[in-house]
Amino acid sequence: MSNLHIIDHPLVQHKMAMLRDKDLGTKDFRDLVNEITMFLGYEVTRDLPQEEVEIETPLMKTTQKVIAGKKLAIAPILRAGLGMVDGMLMLMPAAKVGHIGMYRDHESLEPQEYFFKMPNDISERQVIVVDPMLATGGSAMMAFDSLVKRGVDPKQIKFVCLVSCPEGVKALQENYPDIEIYTAALDEKLNEDAYILPGLGDAGDRLFGTL
Ligand code: PRP
Ligand code: URA
Repeated sequence: MSNLHIIDHPLVQHKMAMLRDKDLGTKDFRDLVNEITMFLGYEVTRDLPQEEVEIETPLMKTTQKVIAGKKLAIAPILRAGLGMVDGMLMLMPAAKVGHIGMYRDHESLEPQEYFFKMPNDISERQVIVVDPMLATGGSAMMAFDSLVKRGVDPKQIKFVCLVSCPEGVKALQENYPDIEIYTAALDEKLNEDAYILPGLGDAGDRLFGTL
């Protein structure tokens, strides 16, 4: 079974169409990123372990399922991943948040890590790495490398992005076959500057108004 999950729900696709529009303003872009992230977060948490607990309704005692205290961490890849944090925290308000600072060098297109701060017990957590764009896959893979170096099992990592492309998905599947990928769109290809086509442009710049 493929580890690529394309969330093709009509509401997600509708919001993605709006998000791609070059005339969408910064505030609306930010709001939509969070809204779409919530839909992706719903899917990425689908297999959280559950346990039975006994509760008493006003009418009788019953057993019901609740989430079995799974320790979670959200790990945004800066900057653009920051735009997805609030959407995830709406669903998982108690999750810890670790930051991975990284930018893609415009000449070499290689990612450069400039910051890494995780909860102390990160090796005991399921980590949801978030970044709107999966282009060459270099940034995501460097983020995974850093987490694995700190003791995180790749099977405990999930990756959530808004836009992906075949090149990035292939790179992740070859290097990290155990990591599940959740995306709202699998686009056509990369251009010569490693931007995704049709894509949505530079996600960080559009989120923070630095165009
Ligand atoms: C973008 C994006 C990813 C990366 C994807 O970040 O948010 O982190 O590029 O490209 P890759 O898959 O080829 O590595 P960018 O480097 O533009 O930094 P920013 O988020 O600070 O704008
Ligand atoms: N980073 C972006 O923000 N957009 C792309 O299309 C590729 C990398």
